[in-house]
Amino acid sequence: MPAHNDFTVTPYEVEGDLDYERLLDQFGADRLTTDQLDNFPKPVHPLVRRRIFYAERDVDAFLDAANHGDPHSVVTGRGPSGPMHIGHVFPFYFAKYLQDNCGTIVHIPISDDEKSFAKDLSLAEISQSTRDNLLDLLAVGFDPDRTRFVIDTADADVVYPIASAFARDLTQATVNATYGDPDNVGLSFYPAVQATHLLLPQLVEDAHPTLVPIAVDQDPHVRICRDLAGKRRYPVKKPGALLSKFLPSLEGPGKMSSSGDVPNILLSDDRATIHEKIQQYAYSGGQTSVEEHREVGGDPEEDVSYLFLYYFFEESDERVERLAGEYREGTLLSGELKNIAADAIADFLENHQYRRNQLADVEDELRPYRLTPHEQRTALRAAGYPDTAIVFKDT
Ligand code: TRP
Repeated sequence: MPAHNDFTVTPYEVEGDLDYERLLDQFGADRLTTDQLDNFPKPVHPLVRRRIFYAERDVDAFLDAANHGDPHSVVTGRGPSGPMHIGHVFPFYFAKYLQDNCGTIVHIPISDDEKSFAKDLSLAEISQSTRDNLLDLLAVGFDPDRTRFVIDTADADVVYPIASAFARDLTQATVNATYGDPDNVGLSFYPAVQATHLLLPQLVEDAHPTLVPIAVDQDPHVRICRDLAGKRRYPVKKPGALLSKFLPSLEGPGKMSSSGDVPNILLSDDRATIHEKIQQYAYSGGQTSVEEHREVGGDPEEDVSYLFLYYFFEESDERVERLAGEYREGTLLSGELKNIAADAIADFLENHQYRRNQLADVEDELRPYRLTPHEQRTALRAAGYPDTAIVFKDT
């Protein structure tokens, strides 16, 4: 990675003191402007309003389509490397909000192949996480008529032919320059797979604006895909991106890689566990003694409990501002703020868990969200496969 940076951000490594603004220069993405923010479907989602989604590529075309009821889609996926925690879930709830408000087509790719290339996990462990993560993603409650889940290994009959068509246009030099030298040939090829994810809605439906709402570390995949789309070999537009900051870990804002002893709040945690984790680990922006805190107050921007509320778990601007004010004044204590955050997270997760518990067998639940044979054929044709190709199976 470039030597002048004291941070490294790629899809496979996030380290150091991340400077979100400088990262945009490095990546070539743009800060979200006020005009763009105002052009989001109303009510503007808190993640946008509060600039947790802080940067973008080509968001305007997407917003115009969403606002005018023209075809548009969102792609946001999951690499199934373990249980999902609260930092993983917000792009999916954001996609659901767009779908509810604008009829957005949503694609959710599951990159189980990627995680076997990138992590020291057995295929059995990844399969287990895939099942488990799918239940969490299904629990979000997407509309099966407008949502597709695509699992790389299970949908290999569509993903592989398209990724291999794309791979011709992707050089090893580009991959090395974008991600650093990959550890294995799987990771060299994988960018063609994620490009497939990002273009699949257009290959299935005709060209239209697609938005990829994701944490900023995934932007390299979007860049590669935009280059491929720019070659104009396929009937697709370059996908846009809406890039987010990372939800802070319990260790504190700016602390990216958890040291191992500090847990994350998992989507499966119950109320008591959430309270315990927050009371014990949540980095506080308050003072060490109550007297001192009452006197000088705390710093909400440094306080993980506050930041959890601000990022995602408290929708009301008025309430979130009131909490920040009281904390700064010292009338709200760290322990009290922790309780408020823990309860808000628990309320959210209890609803999530309730919906997850309603689901039956994962394969049965998934069925209405799989690509149909017609959709597969349409996508393969758009990627250039002739009707005589053996890839078109009789069904
Ligand atoms: N690479 C992502 C991760 O590791 C998961 C993913 C796969 C994804 N395909 C995607 C994310 C498409 C956004 C869009 O978390």
